[in-house]
Amino acid sequence: MYIAILGRQPAFGIAELERLYGAQNVTWFSAMTAVVDNDGFDFERLGGSQKAGRVMIETRGTWRHVGTKIIQDYCQKWHHTEHKITLGISVYGFDVSAREVQKTGLILKSKLKSTGVSLRLVPNSDSALNTAVSHHNKLGLSSSKVELLIVRASNGAVVIAESVGAQNITALAARDQARPRTDAFVGMLPPKLARMMVNLAVGDRPARGRLLDPFCGTGVVLQEAGLMGHAVYGTDLSEKMIRYSRDNINWLQTTKHVRFDWYLHEGDAMTTMWQQPIELVVGETYLGQPFSAPPSPAKLTEVRNNCDRIITSFLTNLAPQIAVNTPLCLAVPAWRDHDGHVTHLPLINSLGTLGYKVIGFKNIRPEDLLYYRPDQIVARELLVLEKHLAANERRTE
Ligand SMILES: C[S@@+](CC[C@H](N)C(=O)[O-])C[C@H]1O[C@@H](n2cnc3c(N)ncnc32)[C@H](O)[C@@H]1O
Repeated sequence: MYIAILGRQPAFGIAELERLYGAQNVTWFSAMTAVVDNDGFDFERLGGSQKAGRVMIETRGTWRHVGTKIIQDYCQKWHHTEHKITLGISVYGFDVSAREVQKTGLILKSKLKSTGVSLRLVPNSDSALNTAVSHHNKLGLSSSKVELLIVRASNGAVVIAESVGAQNITALAARDQARPRTDAFVGMLPPKLARMMVNLAVGDRPARGRLLDPFCGTGVVLQEAGLMGHAVYGTDLSEKMIRYSRDNINWLQTTKHVRFDWYLHEGDAMTTMWQQPIELVVGETYLGQPFSAPPSPAKLTEVRNNCDRIITSFLTNLAPQIAVNTPLCLAVPAWRDHDGHVTHLPLINSLGTLGYKVIGFKNIRPEDLLYYRPDQIVARELLVLEKHLAANERRTE
């Protein structure tokens, strides 16, 4: 069993886990963590988990009790170790200071020292190490570099897990910022979100199919999907965006020494005939104009109707070009006002008629898949879909 420490919007992280590892194997442990009972767990591919660990001990009790247990168990486990151990300790859900966490580590260090074992303790500036520190120290990546993740749920249950890795936020940031072509106007899809979208579409299918992004822009989805082993196919209305995607993919392949098949061409998503095969569809559609303050009701209606028309025409054009059961994950716009009220696209209520089935989740409600920063007006709403037979197709079968 594994425990995942989820990201800023935990609903996205748990939805990703649920799609990859099955609803029956994924459950909330606390508000920011989930447990995954699946031996195929692969931390590297995730976008929505900051860290994850293999659960070693399940217990209950106060920090004092848990700290004592860690000292006893790990003294016993490591007292014959020949190599030096680097240890990080991260505590979640306990009301405990960084100092108290550090103290537990220092007691363990001195006990091990008396048996001749050398331990380097990664200093805590908070009760949990931040992801960059864990990644930088390579914690969880070998038997001599260990991070203990100690998580307490609100019902008092506690798990102690050994980390299997922390998100490489430096590499994610570089893929976002260091690539040669970016465009503030088309928006910047965070690579983490792109990764989650690919996983939400892929689900538990083992094959890495050819992925179409029909609104590819600067190519963030294509970059992440390529790194995850997919052949990628991007189209966009704008010739400039196709150039940008090409330059970014070339840069990625050269700097990361990775190879994947890719194909790009200009095309209006409302009318393009795409080249086959298309095994999954992932993309961030046209989001309408950006807003720094909530628009007037008339403006909002105008922008919403325009986006709805473009995305509805795209879905109508796409449906007959993909096989039944083809998975999709689309980020579409939704607009937030100052009170947190959200205006959705009308098409969300007619996806069935357009030929798509909405994928349900056990751990979240569909409306939880709304991605935004606190000050953002235009949010991205994720639609996780599967192609099914539309009413008119059923009649002609
Ligand atoms: C929100 S951006 C996507 C950004 C992208 N995720 C990236 O990584 O840069 C939407 C893209 O849709 C394109 N677009 C707008 N209308 C379109 C249409 N009818 N058909 C195809 N692409 C369209 C725009 O040129 C823009 O690049």
